[in-house]
Parts: sequence; C-alpha cells; structure tokens
Amino acid sequence: MNDILPEQALLWERFEDTARDWLRAYGYRNLRTPVLERTELFVRSIGAATDIVEKEMYTFIDALNDESLTLRPEGTASCVRAAIEHNLIYNGPQRLYYTGPMFRHERPQKGRYRQFHQVGVEALGFAGPDLDAEHIVMCARLWRELGIEGITLEINTLGSAEARASYRLRLIEYFEQNADMLDADAKRRLYSNPLRVLDSKNPQMHGLIAEAPRLEDDLDEASLQHFDDVQSLLRETGVQFTVNPRLVRGLDYYNRTVFEWKTDRLGAQDTICAGGRYDGLIGQIGGKAAPACGFALGVERVLELMRMTALPTPGIALDIYIAHQGKDAARFAFSAAEQLRDRGCSVALDNGETSFKSQLKRADASGARFVAIIGDSEAKLRQMGIRSLRDGGEQKQCAVEAAAELIISGRE
Ligand code: HAM
Repeated sequence: MNDILPEQALLWERFEDTARDWLRAYGYRNLRTPVLERTELFVRSIGAATDIVEKEMYTFIDALNDESLTLRPEGTASCVRAAIEHNLIYNGPQRLYYTGPMFRHERPQKGRYRQFHQVGVEALGFAGPDLDAEHIVMCARLWRELGIEGITLEINTLGSAEARASYRLRLIEYFEQNADMLDADAKRRLYSNPLRVLDSKNPQMHGLIAEAPRLEDDLDEASLQHFDDVQSLLRETGVQFTVNPRLVRGLDYYNRTVFEWKTDRLGAQDTICAGGRYDGLIGQIGGKAAPACGFALGVERVLELMRMTALPTPGIALDIYIAHQGKDAARFAFSAAEQLRDRGCSVALDNGETSFKSQLKRADASGARFVAIIGDSEAKLRQMGIRSLRDGGEQKQCAVEAAAELIISGRE
C-alpha cells in the first residue's frame, strides 16, 4: 500500500482530469460506493473458487454486529449491488463509472500492490454488441488522449453460461485423463475451476494446455454472432485486436465478450485494463435479470506508462508566491492573496518569518510563475513588487488589480 506524495500526485491529477472528461464524453455518470461490503457479495459474484476469493481478500469479522465484511477487491460487485438496492435500472439502462482504491492481498511487486486504484466502467441493462465495442473503443481513445503507447488488445468470447458449463465438463474429462501431468495448483482447481487451469503460468503445463479442448467447439450460435458483431464494429472504428481463444479472465461472472489491454513495457504485471460482459450477474445477486458489461483499468499501471512517454510531467499550477516581511506587510499580503484568488489566480503565501532571501528561494522551489514582494512600505501604498520567475524580467510595483491582470494575461 503506497503513500502518494505531492510530486507524484501531479501525474495522478493529470490522469484524473483527462479520465473525467473522457467519461463524460461517453455519457457515463459517477457512482460512489463504500470500500466495505458484506463478504458474501464478493464470494457470490467473483466466485468461491477464484484466486481473489480463495486467498486475496481482506476479510474480517465486525465484532460489533458479528458480520463478515471485506475490503472491496474490485468494483463491479459493489456497483451492481448499489444499482439493485436503489433500483437504478428501473429508470432504464445505466452508464456508470467509479474510481478509487481496491484491496487484494497479493504478493507485492512492481505494478502489483495490495491497495491499488481502478477506474471502472459499467453499462447495466444493455444487451447489444455495440456496448462491448463502445467500451473497447473508449479505452483506445483514452490511451490516445494520455499519449501512451505500446498497448495491445486481446479479445475472446466465453459464450453462454450453458456453453461454458458443457466446456467445463469436457475440460475436467481431459485433465482427468492426463492427471499425472497436472501440477498441484491444477489438481486443486480441477473440479472447482477447470477454466483457470488454462491460465497456468507453469511452463511444464503448457504442452498439456495447448492440446486441451477448445471452448470454440461449445459456443452457441447467438454468442458467435454477438462476437462477430463486436469485431466488425472494432474494424469499422480502426481498433486493432487479436482474438485469443485462451483468454478466460480470473473472475467467474463473465460470459460472451472478454478483453484485456496489455503492454510489453511493464514486466510481469502486463495487463493495464480488462473487462467483458456479465449478463448473469445482476440476476444472480438478487436483481431482476438484466444484461451488462464493463471494464476496469489499473491506475498505477497506466501512470507507469504515462511516465514512460515523452509528454512532460505537469508542473504545479501556481500563479504567484507572495513573500512579505513586517507586521503591516503580513496583514496586507494576507488580504491581497484573497483578492488575487477572487480574480481567479492561484496563490501561495509565505509565513513571512524569514528573510526575503530565503522566502525567494521558496518561491523558486514552489514552481510559481510570479513572485510578489511586500514590505511595510509597499503595504502602506497597498501595492506589491511583482516579478516573473520564468523570464527573469524586471520587478514592477503595482496594485492588486494590475497584478492580477499581469498574471492572467501571461497564461499559456
Ligand atoms: P481485474 O482484471 O481483476 O478485473 O482488474 C482490472 C485491472 O486492475 C487489471 O487489469 C489491473 O490493471 C488492475 N489490477 C488488478 N489487481 C491489481 C493489483 N494488485 N495491483 C495493481 N493493479 C491491479 C476487475 O477488477 C473487474 N471488476 C473488471 C470489470 C469491470 N469487469 C467488468 N466490469
């Protein structure tokens, strides 16, 4: 779990500003849910035999009312829970998004943290392939707007719940026939979650996995048509992708389209964004059955890619730093700062307890575009000496209004 220090937060804020405009451009509205939910919600939605539920959740008993609670490991379950609880879909389909910390007790490494952040997007009540495609093209747009590169898209279809069930049986049969080649992890998952065996990172399992039955043979006509339509919309909009028939995802709620955006620039933690359709989930956790799809991006991973691009790291957006010395100067500086803010300027005020020389050093370090100097003689005239910190220009003596004009007219 990381502290995000002010220097680093500049990039976070740039990302958040871009993401908010991007979400608005597609008509998504913000939903904010608590970071805690009843444990049962995650077990039922993500699936009891998944890595997340088996070993990664921060779960505890709330002794005050003897209830098992969990810090959210992802946002889809909470979003769907809230939509059901507040009857949101009753008013028609909903385009929703959320941002914030998620918690998974994984082994920490570069790009993998125990508290990490997601921007999640969920479209509830939409059945058509256009929504699957919308989510994918909107991701592509975000990468463009952030100026990040080297990202590729993999897509797959998991078909209907029935198709998955019959595929599951075929897989179990195949792995049972080759039981002597299974590693401990695969044996443990064989009956609870055989699809996850396909995701094994163990090179000794790769041969066995390559020969395993394929889901394609179980896919139903309607799902295949849906997947075709998604692909033709992607082609239409020029989004490049590869179909990876082995892409299954680590959460149980998916059906039909699934996708992952990957990069080769971050090492082992190479998925920056992932999602898909989950038409069964709303019904499964107590709502009136309705189709849905969504995705979430890992903010830390996207930021790491932003750091690698040529775009300059944003500086702090401070217009002016006010240095002052003396009692009258302090009082005037305090009110001048407020008057400048009234006129739309961002202002940082020194505490005035040290020499002008050291205050000017702090002004330089603050990243402000201008510095103002106020001594008791300026205060008497209700003026300030103002100077640009960017081009080393002359100091000018002026009143607050003129200072504000100078600051605002010089903005890029
Ligand atoms: P997920 O694949 O578990 O899906 O997570 C989505 C993204 O969150 C990952 O691709 C990754 O970038 C980031 N992420 C996951 N775990 C960590 C970690 N420990 N440290 C840093 N980043 C991490 C979901 O969470 C689904 N709820 C996505 C979804 C929304 N599907 C439908 N709607």
